[in-house]
Amino acid sequence: MFEQITAGDWILLIVRWAHAISSVAWIGGSAFFALVLRPVEKANPDAVRPILQPLSSVYRELVDISVIAIIITGLILMFDRLTGNDASPVWFVVLGVKLALAVWMFYLVWRFRQSDFNPTTQPSGLAGRLSWLIGYNAIVFFGVIIFLLASVLRTLFENSISN
Ligand code: HEM
Repeated sequence: MFEQITAGDWILLIVRWAHAISSVAWIGGSAFFALVLRPVEKANPDAVRPILQPLSSVYRELVDISVIAIIITGLILMFDRLTGNDASPVWFVVLGVKLALAVWMFYLVWRFRQSDFNPTTQPSGLAGRLSWLIGYNAIVFFGVIIFLLASVLRTLFENSISN
């Protein structure tokens, strides 16, 4: 069973795996912030607010590693598909939408960093808190859509090689 799998296939398998787990780490982490920490902070602001800053700065490192891994592995997967001649026009359109959303998400992270959000020093600044909220929610929202698009790409590709 394993003997038909070439060395190149194994490498791509590892790349695909790295792409998938980095995506899960990034979107899962953002979902934890938006859907778990945020409501808990609302209910117990005094208990949670002091630890938000250290949590965010450690989480930031996870995001950095994940985003770098996603970009590198995503480009490898893309070039592999492009060189195979099996990608249909619809596949390209869906990939284009996925890439556009990914770029928008990378931009959101970059914009967060520029705004230098600090939850302990501006708890009542509505604009700051709102943008943080919208930001994490947006990453989770677009992330979930990107996962769907990735499944669509996979199905489109599998259909085109079986025809
Ligand atoms: C530079 C940006 C990115 C590029 C170039 C890229 C490219 C790709 C490509 C070519 C595939 C394979 C599609 C197929 O099966 O035909 C893929 C799969 C996937 N992508 Fe991305 N992607 C990028 C960003 C992202 C982001 C931001 C996420 C999640 C938030 C993501 C999640 C996934 C997932 C979950 C898969 C499925 C992996 C699997 O089949 O096991 N990608 N990506």
